[in-house]
Amino acid sequence: VQSIAVLTSGGDSQGMNAAVRAVVRSALFHGLKVYAVQRGYHGLIHDDIREMDLRSVGDIIQRGGTILQTARSKEFMTLEGQQIGAENLRKRGIDGLVVIGGDGSYQGANKLRLQGIKTMGLPGTIDNDIPFTDITIGFDTAVGIVVDAVNKLRDTMTSHERSSVVEVMGRHCGDIALYAGLASGAEAILVPEMPFDLDQISASMKHHFAGGKRHSIILVAEGVGKGEDIANRITESSGIECRVTVLGHIQRGGSPTHNDRILASRLGDFAVRRLIAGDSGKAVGVIQNELVATDIEKVVSTKKPFNKDLYDLALRLSQ
Ligand code: F6P
Repeated sequence: VQSIAVLTSGGDSQGMNAAVRAVVRSALFHGLKVYAVQRGYHGLIHDDIREMDLRSVGDIIQRGGTILQTARSKEFMTLEGQQIGAENLRKRGIDGLVVIGGDGSYQGANKLRLQGIKTMGLPGTIDNDIPFTDITIGFDTAVGIVVDAVNKLRDTMTSHERSSVVEVMGRHCGDIALYAGLASGAEAILVPEMPFDLDQISASMKHHFAGGKRHSIILVAEGVGKGEDIANRITESSGIECRVTVLGHIQRGGSPTHNDRILASRLGDFAVRRLIAGDSGKAVGVIQNELVATDIEKVVSTKKPFNKDLYDLALRLSQ
């Protein structure tokens, strides 16, 4: 490739800016021209593309959100939209594209590959729901935000001897609930990947409160259902007041952790180097600290395996 472009797409995540910076600086380092597409695939169709230089990505490694903005584009789902997008790249001599996003963004990258553009996907999502990488960019920061919120909730729950349901994001994936639950010592973690019994959770909570426990935290992944319904059912069956907190988009904002910045920097640079090596239609990731590139088609058609060991560990320690 001679010229490449970068875009962010789908829900944003902390560390996307660090990834954009890495792509731009690595491309320039390797002597390529590099462009940014504003507003994801929407901007690609509407020709919202500008050339980047070293300074265009200054002072962003620490910023949440994405300076390239992001969008979910219906137009791009049509063949015509994909052809227009590819043409807007080609007319500038751009033959490679790095797409930073999640599942849906990868599908778009694959469509562009079929239009002759060399594409690379970078896993940018707080959900950690992408297979063939141990972790996605933003997940570490999002989990940290949830853990911090649970620490605060615990203080006030203890004072009032209440129980607290905390609903977290993750779409169909329970990883934010699982990792934050383990790290914050939650009494129960409800994820879509595992069955659970609310009556049993209530009974165990009653038992522990009778034995001197003064608070209880239940982490609920949004893929399981509404936190409010779960809190109401627990209050009913346990007799212990259960309040609900929905953390929402707070989980997607704020400065990325150093782990997310390092991950984004490594993956951004790796994606550029794969494109230079002639690779296309791949999604990059890190598996056991090794950088890997996997066929996007394989990535989008595989469900990320659930970490049952971690789940069992959390259960064992939550007594
Ligand atoms: O994929 C990231 C994510 O934050 C999910 O966890 C959540 O279900 C969804 O995006 C929320 O989307 P929106 O920002 O469109 O409300």
